[in-house]
Amino acid sequence: MHSVRYEPLAVDPTGARRGRLHTPHGTVELPTFMPVGTVGGVKCVDVERLEGTGAQMVLGNTYHLALRPGGDTVERLGGLHALSGWRGPMLTDSGGFQVFSLADTRKIDERGVRFKSHVNGDVIDLTPERSIQIQEQLGADVAMQLDEVVQLPSPPEAVHSAMERSVRWAERCLAAATRSDQSLFGIVQGGLDPELRRLSAEGLVALDMAGYAIGGLSVGEPAADMYRTIEATAPHLPPDKPRYLMGVGTPDDLLESVERGVDMFDCVMPTRNGRNGLAYTAAGPLRVKNACHLNDQRPLEEDCPCVACRRHSRGYLRHLFKAGEMLGGILLSIHNLTFYQRLMADVRGAIETGRFAEFKRERQGAWAKPPS
Ligand code: GUN
Ligand code: ZN
Repeated sequence: MHSVRYEPLAVDPTGARRGRLHTPHGTVELPTFMPVGTVGGVKCVDVERLEGTGAQMVLGNTYHLALRPGGDTVERLGGLHALSGWRGPMLTDSGGFQVFSLADTRKIDERGVRFKSHVNGDVIDLTPERSIQIQEQLGADVAMQLDEVVQLPSPPEAVHSAMERSVRWAERCLAAATRSDQSLFGIVQGGLDPELRRLSAEGLVALDMAGYAIGGLSVGEPAADMYRTIEATAPHLPPDKPRYLMGVGTPDDLLESVERGVDMFDCVMPTRNGRNGLAYTAAGPLRVKNACHLNDQRPLEEDCPCVACRRHSRGYLRHLFKAGEMLGGILLSIHNLTFYQRLMADVRGAIETGRFAEFKRERQGAWAKPPS
């Protein structure tokens, strides 16, 4: 049996799903957004503040943690929960995607990927078995299969063979897994080709995995292509398992994907953009460094419960960024994560009352208007 379980609660007329994910470290209300704690901590945000944003589940990266401090060290320090101080549900990515986006040189074959660490140049072998071994040392509630990710666009044969290899790697990951308190999600690949996406989904569904991710998206393709690909994939996934769209996305992307049946998301955007001075608001994104905020006494958002909004003005936040103070990035990271969590809480409410389409229209209309 799987150690995580999906509980369906409601399906909106659009197809948006309201559910719950039960894990050994607690229950996650779906749809949910997972902040990214790449190296075992969400950048700029300590775990108590993170809880305050409403975050329920956090993502960690096998690639980064395997390079530094190493799976053995994390295990000796009590696993990723003890290491990070996060007490709730956690998920780790397998390292597949990061090898393709971060490693210096890589060689890939049926066995796995050999790559050079972007930290110190060490040559590292990542196989499906090794990825699982490290993820078991990290001890998150959900582990991801190792997958082969191709850039888009790529030749159709390359997309096809990476998709088939990813299904074989899923089987190897399942065979290597030993922890009864950790569940494994498969990752659907297949580029933008609906037929390949269907084959990938069917291959993985036959393996009865605990959940299914949609991978290989948000890699530079137009948003419409991504939405179409989600639409081509979701119907081939079982209704009684969670669905996770990896590495996505903007507030618009979240609404469009929830409407297409996605339950889980992760993305660096709220934190990375926050560190760079971009604040999300219901009226659209706001560049805090802009001169127009110099004497602005208003908070980022009047109704936001976060510390940046309760205690500080736009003018002060702009000043912190202009002065190069870390506190600016900290406050905007907290605000943006709070914004994402409030958005998802509102999404869940809209699905429960069967008015997701109307909710989506209202929200997208509000942030598409020119900023005030
Ligand atoms: N993160 C974002 N996209 C992907 C993907 O396709 N595979 C993995 N493993 N992680 C991702
Ligand atoms: Zn705020």
